[in-house]
Parts: sequence; C-alpha cells; structure tokens
Amino acid sequence: MTTDIRTPPQSAKGSPADDPQTGTPDTAEESLGEATSDASLERTVIRSAQIGQEIADDPGRFRVLTGDRPTGNLHLGHYFGTLANRVALQRRGVETFLVIADYQVIADRDGVGPIRERVLSLMADYLAIGLDPERTTIFTHSSIPELNQLMLPFLSLVTDAELRRNPTVKAEAEATGGRPMSGLLLTYPVHQAADILFCNANLVPVGKDQLPHLEQARVVARRFDERYGRVNPDRPVFRAPEALLSGAANLLGTDGHKMSKSRHNTVELGMDADTTAAVLKKAVTDSDRMITYDPVARPEVSNLVLLAALASDQDPVAVAAQIGDGGGGALKKVVTEAVNEHFAPIRARRIELAGDPAYLQQVLARGNATASEVAQRTLDDVRTAMQMRYT
Ligand code: TRP
Repeated sequence: MTTDIRTPPQSAKGSPADDPQTGTPDTAEESLGEATSDASLERTVIRSAQIGQEIADDPGRFRVLTGDRPTGNLHLGHYFGTLANRVALQRRGVETFLVIADYQVIADRDGVGPIRERVLSLMADYLAIGLDPERTTIFTHSSIPELNQLMLPFLSLVTDAELRRNPTVKAEAEATGGRPMSGLLLTYPVHQAADILFCNANLVPVGKDQLPHLEQARVVARRFDERYGRVNPDRPVFRAPEALLSGAANLLGTDGHKMSKSRHNTVELGMDADTTAAVLKKAVTDSDRMITYDPVARPEVSNLVLLAALASDQDPVAVAAQIGDGGGGALKKVVTEAVNEHFAPIRARRIELAGDPAYLQQVLARGNATASEVAQRTLDDVRTAMQMRYT
C-alpha cells in the first residue's frame, strides 16, 4: 500500500483537527507556501501575541531553539532584529538552545571560510550581549552527530516538490547569482527541522522569511508520528514547534538598502566608536533639514532616526522632534552618540572575551556536551519508534 505523503492518514490517536501539543488547527494539508499567505501570517501574528502572554505566565513551558550561520560578523540589524530578543527571552526565564549552524555555511558556497574565527567571534558576540551559558546552551552543528543523523528519517518524510516550492529556499538560491542549487541548500529546511526537533524545542523566534521552514518542521514532526509511531503511546516523539514572530524593527543599511555585509552598509557589533562614527558619517540622508520619522517617504533619514531611537530606547517620532531642523549633520551626530553609548559596555566586554579564546572554547565545549546528551536521547527514541533496535 502506498501512502500519499502530502495527505497523510489521520493518526489513530488524538483529534485530527486539533494538534494536541499546541491547540492550533492541524495544517498538514496545507502546502508549505501557505505559511507565508496573508491569512496564515495573520494567524501567526495573533498566536505570537498569545505566546508572549503565556511566557509571562509560565516561562518553564517553553524551550526556544534559534541559531545563526557563522558567515560573518554580527551587526546592528542582527542585534535589534533578534539578538536583543534572545536576551529578553532569557531574562524572562525561557530556556534556550542556540545553534551555530556551521554545516549551513556550505549550503550556498564552496568553502567554509575562516570558520574557526567566525565561530569564536559569534561566541564573543553572544556572551557580550548578555547570553548566559548557564541558561542558554550554545552549540555547533558539526559537534552533534546525533542531531545530523535525524536528517535521514526526516528526509524520508518530505517530497522534493515540497522542498522545491519553499519560497525562502528559492529566494536564497536566486541570491547566489546563478550558482547551481546544492542538495544541502534544497534540504536545509529539513536540517533546521532537526535543529529544532532534536532538543524538543516548542518555540522558534523567527522573522517572516523563516516561516516556511518552521511549517516544514511542524510537518516533519507530525508525519514522523503518523508514519513511524511513538515510544510513549501518550505523546508523539516530536512535538510541533511554534513560531514566535518578533515585532522587531527592520533596520536598513546606512545606504537605505537591505543591511548586508557585501554592501558595506552595516555597523558591526564589534566595531569601535571611531569606526562607527566613520560609517555613520557616510550614511545617506536627504536635503530636507527638517528631520522627521516617515519611513515611506524618507526611508534613509527615518532609518537613522529609528536606529537612534532603538539605541536610546526612545520613540522614533520623539527622536526626530528633538533634532528638529538640525539637518543630516545633527541627525548623524545623535545616532552616532546613541549607538556608541548603548554599545560601549557590550563592546568592552566583547574585547575582553575575544582576548580569551580558551574561555570561549570552554563555553562552547560545555554547550556541545549538553546538546550531545539531549541529541543522543532523542535519537534513541527515534530508533525505538522506528523499531531499529537490534541488540
Ligand atoms: N538559517 C538560520 C539563519 O540563517 C539559522 C538557523 C539554523 C536556524 N538552524 C536554525 C534558525 C533553526 C531557526 C531555527 O539565520
């Protein structure tokens, strides 16, 4: 008998319309592209707000998995987009697993680059911004064989058509400028599912573009249950993770375009105050001396106003009003001071940490040991569920 993988038979256990783990409607029939449809996005936004309340009530219910690729230095876009949010979740008492996704680096390029330096630099960034290794498990993909082994059963649960229509994979393949898509790029959402599911995370802070991957992880979790069964009859081996959409500001680069290393339009977390001033001095503004916060009509000016506001924890409209008709020069002065002041303690700590690679390695080794234990237990369950225990 063959089973249509896209419309799996309903599990004998539990109500088919209701995911027992989350209480959200079952979406197995939806194509993954739907994860970015307006209706689905709307649902995710509403659910994210609810989750915020649930975290306040009982942070212990949640385990977060999140990660970064070690492809370059972290910048203020990362900081205000996701890093600060991770620290906030940690403060609220949510346990976090943080993957340094080194195997993902080679999904869209030919070599690993200066991978060791980049991994240690990420470690320094994480610890400098306030992630606490006692509460956040930081680990590297390549150090956790059992996590990677989940790829095999997981790949059996997805179709190539499903992978090929993932809008984020498509966009990323296009961004490589005609480089043929590697098998790893095509399947990396499944690898991300392994990142999330190996540690039983139920919450993944993501931007909109990562929603299709999260949906893929949910589909993998559900299909594993349907196809291979359970260890404990009362609960699936993998619970369905949910997205926590960050309402975070989308900072642009200093030229008003998407912030990216290759455009040289970023302020890096690790830059010193003078370099920051030099980068911001070259930022694009316009000729209207009256500074306003109007992201649609004045994207470049408003982006600088927003950065100053985020760095000084103020409202952007208030920041613009304070600058008044001071023009681009005054705006740049304000934003430079705000950024340098906000990041001064973080940068000082970062310099200390970067000067002690042995400590960074030790923190990483501890995180890897914790992640390894968790991954071994999960792989054990997977083998048991799949009846692949022979001795
Ligand atoms: N792909 C993510 C990025 O480029 C990093 C990442 C790896 C990740 N594994 C993950 C994010 C799992 C969320 C969940 O930023």
